[in-house]
Formats: sequence, C-alpha cells, structure tokens
Amino acid sequence: MNNFDLERYLTNSKKVDLSEFDFSAAENYSLTDDEVRCLHYMMDVESSTIVYLRAILRTCVIDDPEAVAFLSCWAYEEYFHGRVIREFLRVSGVEVSPGRYVEVKRSASLRERIEELGASFMCSLTRHFHAAYLTWGAVQELTTLEGYGVLARRTSNPLLKTVLNRIIKDERRHFSFYYNKARAALEASRAQRLTTFLLRKFWTPVGSGVKADPDVNWMIRFVFGDSAGAEVTRRIDSTIGRLPGLAWFDLLTATRSH
Ligand SMILES: [Fe+2]
Ligand SMILES: [Fe+2]
Repeated sequence: MNNFDLERYLTNSKKVDLSEFDFSAAENYSLTDDEVRCLHYMMDVESSTIVYLRAILRTCVIDDPEAVAFLSCWAYEEYFHGRVIREFLRVSGVEVSPGRYVEVKRSASLRERIEELGASFMCSLTRHFHAAYLTWGAVQELTTLEGYGVLARRTSNPLLKTVLNRIIKDERRHFSFYYNKARAALEASRAQRLTTFLLRKFWTPVGSGVKADPDVNWMIRFVFGDSAGAEVTRRIDSTIGRLPGLAWFDLLTATRSH
C-alpha cells in the first residue's frame, strides 16, 4: 500500500474477461433477492464511471499526466466490472434491460451536476483541490473493495465469490493509486484543510448521485449493517485516517450508524 508503480499498472491493465469464468455452472447456484438488488446497484455504479470521468476531466486533474494515464485505464477497467456483473446476473437468470444504463444516467441527480460545476470552479481557485479529489477517490475505491469483500465472504454462491474476488484485484490497484497520490498531495497543510472541509461538507457514499437516497441507505445497511460490517467501516476510517491531516476521518462509521 505504500507505493504505486504507475508504469507497472499501465503495462498490466486489462479488462475482466468473461472467458475467465465458467458461467455454465451458474444454474447450479442461487442468489438471494438482496444479493440481486445489491448487484444491480454495483453494476449501475460501475457502468456510470464514464459519467464521473467526464466530470473529473473538467477539473485541473486533466493537467496531471500521471492522473490522465491512470484514469484512461481505470475507466476501461471499471466499465468491464459493470459488464461482468451484468453477464453474471444474466447467466443466473436475472435479465437486465439493455436500456438500463440510459435510465440510470437520466436519473443521476441534480446534486451530481452541481458537484460537477463546483469541482471545476474550486480548481480555478486553488491547486489544492487535487488533494481533495485524490482523497475522495481513495475513500470510494476502498469502500468499493471492502464492500465487494463483505459480499464475497457472505455469499453461498461460489461463482459470485469468484467474480467478486477478481474485481477486487482491480479495485485494490485503483485504491493504491488514489491513496498514494493523496498522501503526497496532502503534505501541504492548506490541502489538508481544504480536503477536510470538502469531505465533511460534501462527501456521500459510493453511488449517491447515480442512485436514489433510499437505495444508498439500503445498500449501506445491507453491506455494513452487521457487526462484521461495523469492523469493516472502522478499518476504512482508520486507513483513510492515516493520511496527513485526516486523523479525524470517521465518515464511514458515521454513515453506518446514521
Ligand atoms: Fe469497479
Ligand atoms: Fe475501482
């Protein structure tokens, strides 16, 4: 976790290939209704990465060659996460409408668009916005990978376990990029103060903006609601809390107990 080799990442980046899995076995296993709901959520978030990318590329992040290189591969990998979840659902007997992406995108909230404008405005004011964006990315990737981990451990469907564990490998690298870049960007105390302000004021869990609030709340309860989930949210908070100036970070635990 202490360093990120960008060149290595760029060399090794590849999509999750459907041929990696034996989907013919899917009919032998079942999914609970809650798992199906949860997978829909995750698929929608993964498939909406391009919308988030559009927003972030309107900010000063476009001026950072390392970030641009990373984001190019990152968006590609995230797209295929959405695709493999969709395919897994399909072979498990859950049809996903071909127009789902368009419906999800249309319902992306006004808040998301306001945040988009706010982010590009902040950039024009201060170069320290970069630190906030990177920290934000680290929190979301860590939450995603821990969330997938919870589901993979909990499910009785071995094929789902395999799919999630494969996606987690990518999410770990994504997290590592954001976390290590954030650590460097947070060296400046102004960056720490700005990041603290923006996270405290505007941070929302992965998927809000794309999904309606009741869905987001349900997801938090479903993934992190039990005692194992409480442990995971504490771990996320303490990992982010090791970044410079962020020892206060408690947003996952606070959201969980809200
Ligand atoms: Fe992903
Ligand atoms: Fe990711």
